[in-house]
Amino acid sequence: MTATDSNLQILLDSRPEGLPEDSNFKTTRGDIPTPGDGQILARNIYLSLDPAMRGWMTDRKSYIEPVQLGDVMRGLTVAEVVDSKADGFAPGDLVSGALGWQSYALAEPKELQKLPGGLPLPLFLGPLGMTGLTAYFGLLDIGQPKEGETVLVSAAAGAVGSVVGQIAKIKGCRVVGLAGTDDKCAWLKEMGFDATVNYKTAEDLRKAIYKACPNGVDVYFDNVGGEILDIALGLLNQGARIPLCGAISQYNATEPVPGPYNYLSLLVNRARLEGFIVFDYRRRYPEALQQLGQWVAEGKIEGRYDIVQGLENAPQALLKLFDGSNTGKLIVQIGDEPA
Ligand SMILES: NC(=O)c1ccc[n+]([C@@H]2O[C@H](COP(=O)([O-])OP(=O)(O)OC[C@H]3O[C@@H](n4cnc5c(N)ncnc54)[C@H](OP(=O)(O)O)[C@@H]3O)[C@@H](O)[C@H]2O)c1
Repeated sequence: MTATDSNLQILLDSRPEGLPEDSNFKTTRGDIPTPGDGQILARNIYLSLDPAMRGWMTDRKSYIEPVQLGDVMRGLTVAEVVDSKADGFAPGDLVSGALGWQSYALAEPKELQKLPGGLPLPLFLGPLGMTGLTAYFGLLDIGQPKEGETVLVSAAAGAVGSVVGQIAKIKGCRVVGLAGTDDKCAWLKEMGFDATVNYKTAEDLRKAIYKACPNGVDVYFDNVGGEILDIALGLLNQGARIPLCGAISQYNATEPVPGPYNYLSLLVNRARLEGFIVFDYRRRYPEALQQLGQWVAEGKIEGRYDIVQGLENAPQALLKLFDGSNTGKLIVQIGDEPA
């Protein structure tokens, strides 16, 4: 991969019905912009692909405005400053921010976080990025796991789920992971998960999850919603907590989806299901990043990355999140790492 002398951009061209298609995106090439006073020009290196992008493509009220048709698709990136007319930023600085599906972007200082050198850059989109922060706050703030408790995690071999499971192990919990392939389950075991279930091949999914959680479930970290949420509700212990992180099984639904049948289990077990958005914890990011950084340095949290080469492949790569062909954090490499 080499630096380009033009700015490749991927725009949202139409809104998907069901799974996104290539035709929902438009690829354009323009001039590399020049920073004005107070601006920074950044060259994107890695782009994070996230299930939430599916939601941002739909014109519906949410926690953030949808991407407008004709706009550059929104996305978090790790980038290198190549030109700066802003105090505190200089060429060569490594930064992260919502710089979008494009090779170059202009930004103001408040939109960027400076990154320390000396660490693998994908870490800042994984355990030391938004997905790691999601795992940290969702599990510790809402899940409040206690030593000896059972923590059940869905999409456990994904970016968020894999960090949730590892933090739960650090906290002394019994951790059960659900994932869609045997290879993913094997990786979860390598990381110390106590039990795993391949939810795609289990003959009787309910029985398989019940068997993996003989003492019931104290924390169910929900990344997927749907049938798995219902099964987990049936396993709750008294006072259980469910951080409602996501519902990827529903993001491409074209018809209204049924609510959980087993919801009365919340009442019977005096349990709590609570949604959260990681961005609401912005002020506490430094505390979380310090702790996550320490766990990474101690080898207690590992990241795995699925890196697709080339921005032009981002629309197809996004689908990996929905067919489960990514293991760990899904990333697109847009440009070379600095030499
Ligand atoms: N609340 C927040 O602030 C916040 C922030 C970030 C992410 N999230 C949410 O966290 C969840 C995980 O995100 P991520 O970035 O870590 O993605 P990810 O887990 O790395 O990738 C998505 C995974 O979901 C699984 N999956 C896809 N369709 C499924 C289905 N129908 N049923 C069950 N599993 C399915 C696939 O793994 P399998 O092989 O196991 O099927 C796939 O690899 C998503 O729901 C996302 O929206 C929430």
